[in-house]
Amino acid sequence: MASKRVEELISSMSLEEKLGEMTQLAPFFFGVDESMDLTGPMAELGLQEEDIKYIGSTLNSFGAEKNIAMQKKHMAEQPHGIPLLFMADVIHGFRTIFPIPLAMGCSFQPAACEKAAEVAAKESTAAGIQLTFAPMADLVRDPRWGRVMESPGEDPYLNARMTEAAVKGFQGEDPREKGRMAACVKHFAGYGAAEGGRDYNTVDLSDGILREFYLPAYHAGIDAGAKMVMTSFNIMNRIPAGASKMLFDQILRKEWGFTGTVISDFAAANETIIHGYAKDGAEAAQRYIQAGCDIEMMSSHYIHHGKELLEQGKLSMEEIDRSVRHILTLKEELGLFENPFKDADPEAEKALALCDEHRAAARDVARKSVVLLKNEGVLPLDSKKKGLKIGLAGPFATSRNVLGGWAGTGSHVSTLEMGMQEMFPDAELVTAMTEELGAMQEGIFDVEDRVEETCKALRNCDVILAAVGENPMDTGEAASRTCLRLSPNQEKLLYELHKLGKPVVMILFSGRPLEIRPVLPYADAVVQAWFLGTEAGTALADILSGAYNPSGRLSISFPQTVGQIPVYYNHYRTGRPLGSAEGRYVSRYLDCPNEPLFPFGYGLSYARYQYSGFQVAVDQDGILTKVTVENISNTAGVETVQCYTHDLAGSVVRPVMELKAFQQVELAPHQKQGVTFRITREMLRFPNDRSEFVFEPGEFEIMVGHSSSEVLTGKVSLDA
Ligand code: GLC
Repeated sequence: MASKRVEELISSMSLEEKLGEMTQLAPFFFGVDESMDLTGPMAELGLQEEDIKYIGSTLNSFGAEKNIAMQKKHMAEQPHGIPLLFMADVIHGFRTIFPIPLAMGCSFQPAACEKAAEVAAKESTAAGIQLTFAPMADLVRDPRWGRVMESPGEDPYLNARMTEAAVKGFQGEDPREKGRMAACVKHFAGYGAAEGGRDYNTVDLSDGILREFYLPAYHAGIDAGAKMVMTSFNIMNRIPAGASKMLFDQILRKEWGFTGTVISDFAAANETIIHGYAKDGAEAAQRYIQAGCDIEMMSSHYIHHGKELLEQGKLSMEEIDRSVRHILTLKEELGLFENPFKDADPEAEKALALCDEHRAAARDVARKSVVLLKNEGVLPLDSKKKGLKIGLAGPFATSRNVLGGWAGTGSHVSTLEMGMQEMFPDAELVTAMTEELGAMQEGIFDVEDRVEETCKALRNCDVILAAVGENPMDTGEAASRTCLRLSPNQEKLLYELHKLGKPVVMILFSGRPLEIRPVLPYADAVVQAWFLGTEAGTALADILSGAYNPSGRLSISFPQTVGQIPVYYNHYRTGRPLGSAEGRYVSRYLDCPNEPLFPFGYGLSYARYQYSGFQVAVDQDGILTKVTVENISNTAGVETVQCYTHDLAGSVVRPVMELKAFQQVELAPHQKQGVTFRITREMLRFPNDRSEFVFEPGEFEIMVGHSSSEVLTGKVSLDA
């Protein structure tokens, strides 16, 4: 039920005002000079100057002073003094940048994700932002898709935990509070399932697959109280997602009870015409409004066609008022009618940006997001060793371009070289072939071949760090790739460094799993560094020196090769699984294993953990499983104990594994700890072929372990 103020406003607003409230434009439409890189097609919107005073919100306008001035001007011109809502893409940090969300997914630590969101909210609200277009909750299985970097990963359960954590971090108990902001769960829905991993491409999912895998994380974000949902560009089963009543009316509103605001993605309403779904702007407006999209971002069909649609009876004033009610209620929930500037404060903006406390938080989250993929006795390096000579080679050895997508670049970044200098003050660092890798987006596909001189320069080093990867511009939106290998000269660098007979540590800077099988034999250790943000260098130095024992676990599978994609752990069994029969007639490739190079949940540590005492039992509340985890090494560490289930038979086929819970246990050397998981019948529910979430009695395998490929398994029968 909306407030009296909202209802009074609605009853007194003109149609122009209402349609303007339902439109979002970039800052320069408000006469603000803003040279910004807009992410979507900036078609000529055909708006007049007098339209602007009715507009309800803007996006990606940054700066307390600027936004305060913009708000004052706007409210003076808006007939009812309704304030603008300032929204922006604050995805993994604002001024202090945290690891990309895919990396934070690998921390398996929702609290880390929550902390990142909390810091981002403090910094960005001081800069005049009131709502963020985050968290992105799209499940991903295809690293060819550039936006895997924005997702927590391939698992519904982990993605749900990270999404709800982000919403809590942004919004707190109440987004009206100082330093908190509204969150927007996106992109609804199924954007990550684009065919061929090509951005904006077709998505076609059965209702069962949609509900089993792709919807849980969005649902968790809504249940965590997210104030907004953003439509996705893709079609969902032949209808542009934002115009899908199945998604937005049936599932989001009716089944999930979402009462917040829906916004289109950038000009996505207009794209219903390009998709060949709406015949013109009027139909685009009608279908988007009737599906429940309250705000049209950066296209102007609502404004241009709302009146005629009403006059033709193709739209009702109730449908328009429904959207305006959502928007005004959101502004009220943010306290904008009392304080239209919310937390905008030039002094606080300066004081909070990159402050020590925030940088320390970024460093902590970054080192928890790093995944150690291989280590043949090379790491950690001894930072106390006198006369240690460390080689640093590759395009990311000294690069500041390690913030990742939605973060720009910055002079404040801690590079790998800087981190190593700080952590290894007595070591001699020798750098070579540090030319930064350009972007494929700009037609650059490799670095210069300086391998021969590099090998000469580094041949006397005790250990060599090869910092390789992809340009952050080649990840994120509109950055799909068909080949995921390192560039030829980066691969050559590894082949040749290996010949020196010195330990080589490959450090991978990427926004996606790369195809590293070709170079894996030439690295004695492999550190997946993703794009770690402002404190990339110090966090990596913490890992390389053992100051922090790597605890990251993969939240997305690494394919052996692109030809294997999609490869993910929670697949269905098939009728001829590998190993089910002798001979050739089983589900396999002739030229590649079925298993990924590195599976979901995988990650090495400098410690060694031993599992024992595994028990599985059934009681009236479901399944209880216990295990003892012991650190059998001399190094303290954090082990992420994972609990999976396999429903052996159901009214529809069931995944061979499903992550149902995980616990992180901090273990001192030779310490052991019991870990218990409770799996309830509720947790075992799944969408049957009538889209009902059901629990079906029967036999279940329970698996507990270090990764999806290293588990102890027990079997139980569970009745209704
Ligand atoms: C982009 C992205 C979306 C972002 C929006 C506003 O096209 O798809 O994630 O929030 O536009 O920048």
